[in-house]
Amino acid sequence: MNIDYSELIPNNVDLASNRTLQRALEQWQPNFLGWWNEMGPVGTQAHQVYLRTAVSVDPKGWAHYDYVRMPEYRWGIFLQPAQADRKIAFGAHKGEPAWQSVPGEYRSTLRRIIVTQGDTEPASVEQQRHLGQTCPSLYDLRNVFQVNCEEGRHLWAMVYLLHAYFGRDGREEAEALLQRRSGDADNPRILGAFNERTPDWLSFFMFTYFTDRDGKFQLQALSESGFDPLSRTTQFMLKEEAHHMFIGQSGVGRVVQRTVDVMREHGVEEPDKVRALGVIDLPTIQRYLNFHFSVTMDLFGAEASSNAALFYTSGLKGRFNEEQLDDDHRLESTGYTVLEIENGRLVQKPAPALNALNERLRDDYIADSQIGVAAWNKSIEKAGFGFRLALPHKAFNRRIGTFGGSWIGVDGSVMSEAEWKRREPEWLPTAADRKYIASLMGRVVEPGKFANWVAPPSRGINNLPIEAEYVRFG
Ligand SMILES: [Fe+2]
Ligand SMILES: [Fe+2]
Repeated sequence: MNIDYSELIPNNVDLASNRTLQRALEQWQPNFLGWWNEMGPVGTQAHQVYLRTAVSVDPKGWAHYDYVRMPEYRWGIFLQPAQADRKIAFGAHKGEPAWQSVPGEYRSTLRRIIVTQGDTEPASVEQQRHLGQTCPSLYDLRNVFQVNCEEGRHLWAMVYLLHAYFGRDGREEAEALLQRRSGDADNPRILGAFNERTPDWLSFFMFTYFTDRDGKFQLQALSESGFDPLSRTTQFMLKEEAHHMFIGQSGVGRVVQRTVDVMREHGVEEPDKVRALGVIDLPTIQRYLNFHFSVTMDLFGAEASSNAALFYTSGLKGRFNEEQLDDDHRLESTGYTVLEIENGRLVQKPAPALNALNERLRDDYIADSQIGVAAWNKSIEKAGFGFRLALPHKAFNRRIGTFGGSWIGVDGSVMSEAEWKRREPEWLPTAADRKYIASLMGRVVEPGKFANWVAPPSRGINNLPIEAEYVRFG
């Protein structure tokens, strides 16, 4: 089914047949646009951007490219087609037909899950709103706008569920999603990582690699949901999410590539000398990586969580690749290993699998995160340098869960607060690092040109050449 772009809200959910819902969303739409104009990408009113817009959900139509005036981007509501006779795959309701409406007993839990996911979408747009002013190329400028527009659409996806299935409280939650602000002291976004700043492009590439990947794992777990509209919505969001992580992996990869190219050309390795050549030294890249990885670790929640157990048993949120796993999908008598601190060191402890579902999702995420790190290391190795990037220990720099009040190094060693603070400048970006990175951020908008600190991509968007005019300034 193709989406009718003459409709006020493009959709494949037959919105026209539900007048009440359509009217509620049409009332929310101007508020969304008001939020976008106030908190979306700065100074983009007149830009025409080569963007991907979904025109249908089938494999050929969901990635349609054209120049779009930014404020006229058509944020729509798209669900993956329903799977006939879909059954709930896990938990106490395993084998029952998937729910097409909200089960009364889980109403507030489900609403909370949707609101928490929905809140991350506008939050990241707010975090990234200044990046366009310091873009390293037109190609990168277009990419950040693509991410921003799609995060806006993900907000629409969650608001659709709130409006369509949760009545008045759903509409109130949808309004509140436009009122919280990333980093605001009085009314912040719900999750910690979404209140951090994304002040420069190294942070942006790390964010899209690590934090959008958390999005992937949360959406994967929700795509297993017994609440079928949530499952179908998140399945479609995952298609868009893949491009965000690509921007992160290739972005960090291009920074690393440029650095090792310059190091080799000039025969230098020491960070000061590397910086003198206007590129980002590898230890600084590692510190940014440590920061973004560790704040993202916290997004998975506490190691032991009765909420996670409840979400699973209720059939609301499954595991990563739930249906491919070979077990009873109830987990009442299964165990999982979690880390604890015992006598000043980390030890593996058996725990009930149901309570350890956050930890399990975090472990699946870590395995997936290694892939990019290995690729980045390959280009360092190819250039002939011994330095290797690495993920820090999962207990490093945590605020939430077992390790929240502890002081743990990047290698997992438990230490005193004083020792940790003494070593912090080795592990996390320092004020001087951030100042140096900020000093590199200039605006490069000549087609085909790239800032000195980042290599060009290997190819352009949608088979266009790298030097295409991805953004036209009005
Ligand atoms: Fe998203
Ligand atoms: Fe994303």
